[in-house]
Amino acid sequence: MEFTGSHILSIAQFQRADIERVFQVADTMEPYALRRKVTRVLEGAILGNMFFEASTRTRVSFGSAFNLLGGEVRETTGFKTSAISKGESLFDTARVLSGYSDVICMRHPEAGSVAEFAEGSRVPVINGGDGANEHPTQALLDLYTIRKELAGRGRDIDNLRIAMIGDLKHGRTVHSLCKLLCLFSNIQLILVSPPELAMPESIVEALCAAGHKVQISEDLTESIVSVDIAYSTRIQEERFESKEEADQYRGRFRLNQSIYTQYCEPNTVIMHPLPRDSRACANELDNDLNLNPNLAIFRQADNGVLVRMALFALVLNVADQVDAHARDVIWHTGR
Ligand code: CP
Repeated sequence: MEFTGSHILSIAQFQRADIERVFQVADTMEPYALRRKVTRVLEGAILGNMFFEASTRTRVSFGSAFNLLGGEVRETTGFKTSAISKGESLFDTARVLSGYSDVICMRHPEAGSVAEFAEGSRVPVINGGDGANEHPTQALLDLYTIRKELAGRGRDIDNLRIAMIGDLKHGRTVHSLCKLLCLFSNIQLILVSPPELAMPESIVEALCAAGHKVQISEDLTESIVSVDIAYSTRIQEERFESKEEADQYRGRFRLNQSIYTQYCEPNTVIMHPLPRDSRACANELDNDLNLNPNLAIFRQADNGVLVRMALFALVLNVADQVDAHARDVIWHTGR
């Protein structure tokens, strides 16, 4: 794909070579993300960070990634402080905000809304999550994490064995990750959910069409016995009619150290897009896993900065100029 000037709206835009390019650029961002070097390659550029739905990681890591490349960030959060609450259309909002920004990142609760917004934008728009539809940058950072975690074991993404666990119906991160895995070979997926929260049929069909082996299960412990990755997800309460409806499913699949020790292979990597729901009624990944070296959830979140820096550098066509605008960090970093 041609990255320069492109919107990043869906995983469907990517071919395998594009993924390799993103990962190769993400690797080069490590000295900047680890505060060993500073680059000013995007000095003067402005990111419009538009988040109309709650976010911690995606919003702040997009902003940090842009700052780390030397750019400035302008943000709006929620509908109340936006003129959308006065009836302004997504098209008009995009038309206006794209006059103030060089690139826009957006999260919105409606599926398809970010693509609609992009139609009105004069600058590239990156999807930070549109309803239950897609979260393409999360899928990229998830796959980047999987590649890194498995690299030390002589494994690659091809031939991966992965269990996806939880609310697979509403979980946009697993939707995008499945679409991404369709680009690879011989993947074994175990999709663990209550039947009511099963992975959408169209995604299962795409996985099968890609030649992957897909197993559907409601049993957590059986499903995590022979996998490289156990990828847990939260019950997406915000997509249910009521809290009471979501409560029926919360806490159904709980992974803790005792279950991990009893059922998982010794090196099974534990992932979660976060936030994990740590309330007693849910606790899908217990805190007693925090000292488990195979708990990759915080490395996963850190990798989000690298991947988002790479996307900015590619979309704004500065990936080959980052080092030319670099200097050493002179402050105490504590890293
Ligand atoms: N993983 C993720 O999208 O987290 P936030 O909702 O905090 O952005």
